[in-house]
Amino acid sequence: MARVVTEHVRQIGKHFLSERILTELSDIRSRHAIHCSFLDAFLDCLLDKREGRYWNRTYLALPLLELLLDDQHSEVSPDRLATLLVSDAIRFETETAGGSSEPPCRGRPDPATLRKRLRHALRFVADDLGGPDAADPQDLVDRLPRPPATDAGRWFDVTVQPVYVLHDEYFFIRVLQTHEMLFTEIARNIRKAIGALRDGKLTASVELVDHATAIFERAAALFRITATMRAEQFSVFRQFTQGASAIQSEQYKKFEILCGVPPAPRLHSAAFTNVPAVRDEAESAAHDTVTQAYLDLRRAGAFGQAEWNLLDSALGRLEARHQRWKSTHRSLAVRMLGDAHGSGHTDGVPYLTKCVENRLFWQLSEE
Ligand code: HEM
Repeated sequence: MARVVTEHVRQIGKHFLSERILTELSDIRSRHAIHCSFLDAFLDCLLDKREGRYWNRTYLALPLLELLLDDQHSEVSPDRLATLLVSDAIRFETETAGGSSEPPCRGRPDPATLRKRLRHALRFVADDLGGPDAADPQDLVDRLPRPPATDAGRWFDVTVQPVYVLHDEYFFIRVLQTHEMLFTEIARNIRKAIGALRDGKLTASVELVDHATAIFERAAALFRITATMRAEQFSVFRQFTQGASAIQSEQYKKFEILCGVPPAPRLHSAAFTNVPAVRDEAESAAHDTVTQAYLDLRRAGAFGQAEWNLLDSALGRLEARHQRWKSTHRSLAVRMLGDAHGSGHTDGVPYLTKCVENRLFWQLSEE
């Protein structure tokens, strides 16, 4: 059932599902979803617009992807899921390039754009595929991994529900889902780095921060893929994505509050009112951060100066990487959005310009 519905959604766009189909889906949910958490999550995402609950999580089918991450039989880490998501986008682009699986009116990219998109996407997965012949693009395409053949893995294919029918929305959704997975992994590493620091294991903490920085570099590659999106396609399908924005990305904001609690103006701005659960976590007394652990241990006289220098350098690398990430994101938005408002109801590029001024470790630079 889920595959047939997904096929239909891709033919007409989720925004245009008929009242009859939406009612049928709602009936199916009340009768059957209680027996299957995957079906429940699938319908939760599909019925979001009808029920006035449409936002980033449901646009990106995150409830379904998270069930796949939690599934013990599938053993998929966020990092691995990131590779699977980009692999799927590559397959979509190469299969539709032949022209058989998609009506031409949907605007497939011209060969030069497609080549560029594939080059960046293949580079993203190449490390995971490894091997001496990893540089050969056709070889990489042939070896792209597929989701696990488990009950949970079978839901992977129905995690793209475009709001409209234009070609470029498919890979855009996959890129944003990948972003969520990478930030899940980055946040996990930062959480572990705080634990290591509190346990007096500074070297381990430095390694974890550096690993987070390396994943950040991978995340930056997503902008190179997105830069191949045609602005004219984006401006059409974004009419139907209003209300869903990466400003609602909980993983991105979780990463931020683990580095340090943001200053009050940011914590009480749209950046965090859009993610109330994360804001509450940042304000709870039990919440720990790299910054807090650093300040506590510094005051307690833990570690020698050479060790502090190592940690300072690692935090500096993470900050610099985040700054580059924000500038690249802003440049992309300038190109794709111009002076239009963001789909998260901010004023768009001016909001992002302000974000570039923020620092993760602002309290440490004030010390
Ligand atoms: C066409 C490309 C893109 C445009 C025009 C764009 C634009 C924007 C805008 C205007 C905002 C501010 C919130 C809003 O009003 O929506 C925003 C926030 C954000 N975007 Fe994008 N974006 C694009 C692609 C991406 C991609 C590919 C990613 C991730 C890989 C991403 C991640 C984020 C994140 C995490 C935020 C929240 C920033 C914060 O609140 O500090 N964006 N984006």
